[in-house]
Amino acid sequence: MGLVTIADDSGLQRASAGQSEVWCRQLEEGNILFFPESPIAIQPEDRSFLLTLQQTSSGLHKNMAYKPAVDRVSGADIKGALPESAERLHRILREYSQHATEFLAAFLGPYEARWRLDYGSFRPEEEQGRDLPLRRRNDLMHTDAFPTRPTRGARILRFFSNLNPARTRDWITGEPFKTLLPQFAPRQIAFPRQRSTVAKLAADAACGIGLGKAIPALKRSPYDEFMIRFHNFLKENESYQANGKRESWYFPPGSSWMVYTDMVPHAVLAGQYALEQTYLVAPEAMVAPEHSPLGVLQAMTGQKLV
Ligand code: SIN
Ligand code: FE
Repeated sequence: MGLVTIADDSGLQRASAGQSEVWCRQLEEGNILFFPESPIAIQPEDRSFLLTLQQTSSGLHKNMAYKPAVDRVSGADIKGALPESAERLHRILREYSQHATEFLAAFLGPYEARWRLDYGSFRPEEEQGRDLPLRRRNDLMHTDAFPTRPTRGARILRFFSNLNPARTRDWITGEPFKTLLPQFAPRQIAFPRQRSTVAKLAADAACGIGLGKAIPALKRSPYDEFMIRFHNFLKENESYQANGKRESWYFPPGSSWMVYTDMVPHAVLAGQYALEQTYLVAPEAMVAPEHSPLGVLQAMTGQKLV
């Protein structure tokens, strides 16, 4: 596992089908694809503008979020913000999301149109020493799972850009899910269990009459439940945090990287000012499904978990 560096001269825009598939496989095996020079251009004046932004109530919102499906920004309670600033932030986030998506559609051919755009974000806070409740901390190793947005087996692929003109964004990553899980399950964390037909019908019926919106837990499959438990388990596991295998990465100013954060345990230790867009990639689009958390869990339990 590691970092696959993709330099600007590797024909980024016009990747062959074979090359695209290699990149998808590298991601699905738990590598980070790293672009020393981001393929997504940010105008210098837009970047300067973003560097002036600071959140006022950062305890409430971890980042400023962009929701591509409804074209809205949330969490942007910008200090002393003028209405023009909110509009400008909105435009920059919209463009980043669009450009990242156009790039990925060409770069990762096998996934094109087989993903749902999840949120994008701008991360203006310094990550080092951030005061957040334990389960929300970014500096503890974890795999990602969204409590309010169950994926039902769709993969969490995230594309990041470091906008900081002077400082790296510092990550650590650990062994991927397939290697990590057997170290803990089922002794320290119980496996998920397939739902009975009756329980499944009841949950589907409740969502059918709109209750899923008010009670996100109703929409969760056994897979989603497990992934949330595993996220919490890792963050709360002091021995894993202190002694788990890890590698360090320093993403330089102007670089981008992407990784399946549902399978690669990660933490950000320092850095300020990043842009990010998240994709929920259909499980059917995987070129190496045996490495996916769902594939691993279903193989280990012999049960159907979504
Ligand atoms: C995370 O996904 O845990 C945070 C990564 C980052 O903001 O660099
Ligand atoms: Fe994360």
